Amino acid sequence: MNKYDYIIRRETENDYRETENLTREAFWNLNTPGCFEHYFVHIMRSHRDFIPELDYVIELDGKVIANVMYCRSKLVDEQGNEKNIITMGPLCVLPEYQRKGFGKALLEHTFKIAESKGFDVVINFGNPDNYVSRGYRSCRKYNVCFGEGEGFFPAALLVKELKEGALDGRKWFYRPSDVDTPCDDEAAVAEFDRLFPPKEAGWQPSQEEFYIHSHSAITW
Ligand SMILES: CC(C)(COP(=O)(O)OP(=O)(O)OC[C@H]1O[C@@H](n2cnc3c(N)ncnc32)[C@H](O)[C@@H]1OP(=O)(O)O)[C@@H](O)C(=O)NCCC(=O)NCCS
Repeated sequence: MNKYDYIIRRETENDYRETENLTREAFWNLNTPGCFEHYFVHIMRSHRDFIPELDYVIELDGKVIANVMYCRSKLVDEQGNEKNIITMGPLCVLPEYQRKGFGKALLEHTFKIAESKGFDVVINFGNPDNYVSRGYRSCRKYNVCFGEGEGFFPAALLVKELKEGALDGRKWFYRPSDVDTPCDDEAAVAEFDRLFPPKEAGWQPSQEEFYIHSHSAITW
């Protein structure tokens, strides 16, 4: 809980552009010059794996300042057994409201709802600094790998059990939704971006941090 008088509520259609704008503000130049996450939010809402019941915003003084969304995804074990799980993201807070507890509040709120809907594992790629305090652990600790063949354990692949013991130590392969595939279309992202106020794309040190996190794997 923080000192602000805020409301956590479901996103509505009236919020869509405001949420996309806050996503753009939060991610701009963070991982790469510019960003695609506002387009991701835009297309995600109409994808079959999107979970509207877990699409939440924080409203403060009539303004949407934070958002989180989730999609359905799967874990598959070596025998081919599937387990339905959820993937979190994007999660974002308007820059001027970051590091004040809003991200934490949104995650804790939606984790409870996810659990009440029968989901027991949540997963996402991200900077571990943002998630370890919410109970996420390295995918390696739960034997959840990514890729084909033997698979590998990306440093940024983070796993949280919503129900203790949901993952029983057997090897799992993470199979994300294809929801973000359209984000590879740079022209579509650029076209969508033109709907927003002009903003300069450029380099900042967090992009190197992102490169390191997104190209690292845990091997021992
Ligand atoms: C990442 C983000 C969603 C976190 O939300 P937030 O409201 O800023 O973060 P919170 O204040 O709720 O803090 C969450 C955790 O971050 C860490 N944290 C908070 N303030 C911090 C600071 N100043 N420095 C380092 N870590 C800090 C803590 O672990 C904290 O948990 P705790 O309070 O239980 O210890 C938000 O900063 C954001 O939108 N960033 C840009 C977009 C982004 O990176 N999204 C995530 C993609 S992986």
